Amino acid sequence: MLPQPSGTQIKLADVAGRTSAVIAAHAHLEGALLPILHGIQDEFGFVPTDSLPVIADALNISKAEAHGVVTFYHDYRSQPAGRHVLKLCQAEACQSMGSDRVAAMVKQALGIGFHETSKDGSVTLEPVYCLGLCACAPAAMLDGEVIGRVDADAINEIVAEIRT
Ligand code: FES
Repeated sequence: MLPQPSGTQIKLADVAGRTSAVIAAHAHLEGALLPILHGIQDEFGFVPTDSLPVIADALNISKAEAHGVVTFYHDYRSQPAGRHVLKLCQAEACQSMGSDRVAAMVKQALGIGFHETSKDGSVTLEPVYCLGLCACAPAAMLDGEVIGRVDADAINEIVAEIRT
């Protein structure tokens, strides 16, 4: 059984079946591993460890290779995310506009670091490297919505929204 943010569990047989369905939908693509991993993350909210042998078998690669790709790319999660996902841009344009300070404020307000989920499961905090909003740096993304010019007031609003 795999934990889910809702507290429910996924049966391992379901993981294999749902993983196989995602593979079948993407296996024809060139360089299918990344689209498959994206599909798996869309399916489960993260990439379950139990999906890796199924993927490795289907693509004729080693499980270690599949695991290496999951851990290399920041986009893939190995654990379920919180109810909200807050991404803070840490790329150059945002760094020059104080994204480090913003990150420190958010980490302190939420009591978590990057790649961590708050104990109450309300939020997962992740770094991201350019949201295409450089002109409005520093930028963030909350549950897929981009937010520009993230200042102290914006942080307070974001934290309040996450906690409701
Ligand atoms: S560098 Fe942050 S949005 Fe582009």
